[in-house]
Amino acid sequence: MIKNSDRAVVRGLKDVAAAETRISYVDFNGFLYYLGYNIDDLVGRVTYAEVAYLLIHKRLPTQLELDKFRVDLVSSMKLPEPVIDSIVSAPKHCHPMDVLRTEVSHLAEYDPEDNDYSEPANMRRATRLIAQIPTIVVTIYRSRLNQLIPEPKKEYGFAQNFLYMFKDAVPDDNERNVLHRYMTLHADHGFNASTFAARVTASTNSDMYSAVTSALGTLKGPLHGGASEKVMEMLDDINLEEEVEEYISGLLDDQKKIMGFGHRVYRAQDPRTKHLRGMVEDLCHRDRTLGLYNKCIKIEEIVYNRKKIYPNVDFYAAVAMDALGVPKEFFTLFFASSRISGWVSHVIEQYEDAVLLRPDSKYVGDFNRQFVPIEKR
Ligand code: COA
Repeated sequence: MIKNSDRAVVRGLKDVAAAETRISYVDFNGFLYYLGYNIDDLVGRVTYAEVAYLLIHKRLPTQLELDKFRVDLVSSMKLPEPVIDSIVSAPKHCHPMDVLRTEVSHLAEYDPEDNDYSEPANMRRATRLIAQIPTIVVTIYRSRLNQLIPEPKKEYGFAQNFLYMFKDAVPDDNERNVLHRYMTLHADHGFNASTFAARVTASTNSDMYSAVTSALGTLKGPLHGGASEKVMEMLDDINLEEEVEEYISGLLDDQKKIMGFGHRVYRAQDPRTKHLRGMVEDLCHRDRTLGLYNKCIKIEEIVYNRKKIYPNVDFYAAVAMDALGVPKEFFTLFFASSRISGWVSHVIEQYEDAVLLRPDSKYVGDFNRQFVPIEKR
């Protein structure tokens, strides 16, 4: 055992491997693999349901398995009535991520297999969570607009139902493709902060809802999943393309971080960015999207020239979400609706590993302070 005072602190746990995983590999050279498949081979060729199946079952489904999984997902989208009531009565001014985090925790109270923590029960619970999180998102959004929440349609795919219910409009092929690609690209990403939070909670043998609630609280932060909303705030704050240079240089001069840039792991370009940039290019027939895209290209150039850093997943994702008609305060909720398949896969893997994740700290505080009773302070 190393003496506490001799311990080395790895600030931010940079480059520390906290466990082994088979689920995804983030290669700092700019590659990302899900269960050994390069994401470049998956994006645009698989539906999100296929990716979710891959992550939780650790292999790609056959057509028959995928059809059954899709039916399971769509039929699990329904929420318990008390959860719907709680969403509808939540204060409208609070951030929708607060409501999502609360309601995922609330779902635990209505788990149909409560007290069954076997692996098959956890696989079914994982499927239900993947299905129910988008419905919570839809319910938050539509109840804030005082509008009805459409029922999922059996003939639609899972991601298609999500967008249909969110907008109460049938998505066209282009919108559907954008959502599948977005959700595929956000499904998993190694030991990112929210996944790690989920695994820490699961490592105490706590339940899956608790682990996902921890993950949601962690994803919300602007250094993680909350970055995309901040990207859109920045893009909206820059009135004209001609103002980009002055605005971004001003932030960098003030040592401020540019949201949607930089990464803890990648030393090359984030492999997800090229797909998201391409998706946005396909949507540039919309005037607003073209305007935002032009600003993004300029920002990318300025930040690279000054800091030699690249955009991360959250940069162009903001513009893609905007083009789908998603308001910026809901961006992180779409991220969560995709990353849930990664979180639950990691939670199941953590249960298999069966080790408590509990690091130590190096104590740098005082010793032997004189205690003074409260009446004498
Ligand atoms: N804008 C400007 N400079 C940035 C930057 C950004 N977004 N991200 C990193 N840097 C710079 C830092 O200022 C630092 O420069 P220095 O060495 O000259 O001081 C260097 O790059 C390393 O940054 P650091 O914050 O130590 O890296 P990290 O690994 O701890 O942080 C992030 C990674 C993601 C938290 C960080 O890049 C960030 O805050 N990005 C913005 C938020 C964001 O987009 N988050 C989503 C991540 S997917």
